[in-house]
Amino acid sequence: MSAADARDPASDTPVIVARDLKQVYKIGRGFFHPPDQLQAVGGVSFTLHAGKTLAVVGESGCGKSTLARMVSLIETPSAGELRLNGVDVVQASQVERHALRRTVQMVFQNPYGSLNPRKKIGAILEAPLEINTPLTALDRAEQARAMLALVGLRPEHYDRYPHMFSGGQRQRIAIARALMLKPSLIVADEPVSALDVSIQAQVLNLLADLQQELGLAYLFISHDLGVVRHIAHDVLVMYLGHAVEQGEKKTIFSQPLHPYTQALLASTPGITGSGAARQRIVLKGELPSPLNPPSGCVFSTRCPNVVARCHIERPMLRELGGRQVACHEAEQFTQPAAPQQ
Ligand SMILES: Nc1ncnc2c1ncn2[C@@H]1O[C@H](COP(=O)(O)OP(=O)(O)OP(=O)(O)O)[C@@H](O)[C@H]1O
Ligand SMILES: [Mg+2]
Repeated sequence: MSAADARDPASDTPVIVARDLKQVYKIGRGFFHPPDQLQAVGGVSFTLHAGKTLAVVGESGCGKSTLARMVSLIETPSAGELRLNGVDVVQASQVERHALRRTVQMVFQNPYGSLNPRKKIGAILEAPLEINTPLTALDRAEQARAMLALVGLRPEHYDRYPHMFSGGQRQRIAIARALMLKPSLIVADEPVSALDVSIQAQVLNLLADLQQELGLAYLFISHDLGVVRHIAHDVLVMYLGHAVEQGEKKTIFSQPLHPYTQALLASTPGITGSGAARQRIVLKGELPSPLNPPSGCVFSTRCPNVVARCHIERPMLRELGGRQVACHEAEQFTQPAAPQQ
């Protein structure tokens, strides 16, 4: 199937299928030493359908942006399978990769850095059309103006420069630019983290409206579970390059089974799940270096429920309580919580 066929909205081909995706970086140690291997993503699998949002969450350095770069075709995975709209990205021909690039667009954390300060908004929005389509200047301008309206900006903004906008408005412009080529997937890496909380909600609402209207799939990267709660359908929790828990947001938020997910939820104000999520769990210790990960379970050095087995045997993701979890001891959290005083 070609990338163009796969963009047929009637098709139920998933927008992303990732199987055991890995990314290993070689870190040079000088001429006489072999490079160190840093496993930034150590085998992640998931499926994302049109109209849905998968949130990838976890602390700094857990591999979220690396995953985003692989899915956006910025980096090729070191191993694993990645299909975008049914097309195998690793095996794809140049022509197929070119077509796929149009269907995947990114929105970054910092709209200040990603918008050319010397260009007017109209030119910024029209640039992707100029490069990738045979549209006339008049048609490009018309589409740019229509896009401004779609993202809640005004017609007169077309002739203004990025510095004349607030942070929230700039993120609207970045979203508008990402949509100009009618992608099926937006990879958003911390898109609201740099914004005030009140503005965050507006941009999240805009993203939700656009998803409804255009059937977009979102891979939404965030360290903030308060934000994820508003936007995600599914959640993938990462720790040190590995998925430790994944499944439907409502299942995971109401009863997290991995101690790391429990700790993340417990440290997020305003989220009160049942059971362990309600207790305050403070993570001890530092995040280990990905150059020297713990043996056994990657979370074993910081886990409040660690047992001897965890230091020896890496827990694989397995089905439990309606989601997937990688923890030897997860059964203890499937019991209904004792009534709280
Ligand atoms: N190009 C690279 N070369 C070497 N190591 C890298 C490279 N990019 C990322 N890393 C390392 O890979 C690991 C994962 O990094 P990544 O940027 O994906 O994390 P992240 O979850 O996005 O973190 P943050 O929340 O801080 O953005 C980190 O240890 C990082 O130092
Ligand atoms: Mg990142």
